[in-house]
Amino acid sequence: MSTAFYHAALVLHIIGITLMAGASFVDYITFNMFYKAYATDKNKGLVLGDYLYKLQRFLGIGMLLILVSGILMMIKLHEVWGAQLWFRIKMGLLLIIILNGLGLRRMLGTRLRKMLGDNATVNIPATKWQDIRKRFTIVQLIQLLLFILIFTLSVFKFN
Ligand code: HEM
Repeated sequence: MSTAFYHAALVLHIIGITLMAGASFVDYITFNMFYKAYATDKNKGLVLGDYLYKLQRFLGIGMLLILVSGILMMIKLHEVWGAQLWFRIKMGLLLIIILNGLGLRRMLGTRLRKMLGDNATVNIPATKWQDIRKRFTIVQLIQLLLFILIFTLSVFKFN
């Protein structure tokens, strides 16, 4: 594999990271907007809730690009990176990012969608409402923290 091909894979890696980390940040902001809007204007809240549900797709597409490009780079340099500490820790964090950002986030998205239904007349009990807010916030903040950790490991490449 040529160096140009390796660099092209790295560009794809960065596109995937931009998409996934960007969508995670927007997800966090949107949930907070949705939470505030729903309390005062349920119809506006439902629109934001729907948008929140659709954002999940971009998390998945970003992850796919990251994985494909990462594997392409590893085909060329697996002997170099595979043995290094930063890379091994990164792979562990990657698993947590997949479980947290795709698994748990998707489950919460589905739960919220069921709670909201498709009309603005549903009244959600306060305890349920606070519980889902807490869960969303924890999952989203953990996701952003994991990205910062992976960025730091990948750029400094501690060994
Ligand atoms: C959420 C997942 C991931 C994130 C956020 C991420 C992020 C990054 C970042 C920020 C860099 C530094 C780019 C640079 O120095 O120019 C990088 C490099 C790299 N990543 Fe990832 N990565 C992820 C997943 C993966 C996976 C799954 C693999 C392999 C299977 C992988 C393989 C690599 C390799 C080999 C490099 C070194 C490229 C180089 O400096 O030549 N990454 N990654």
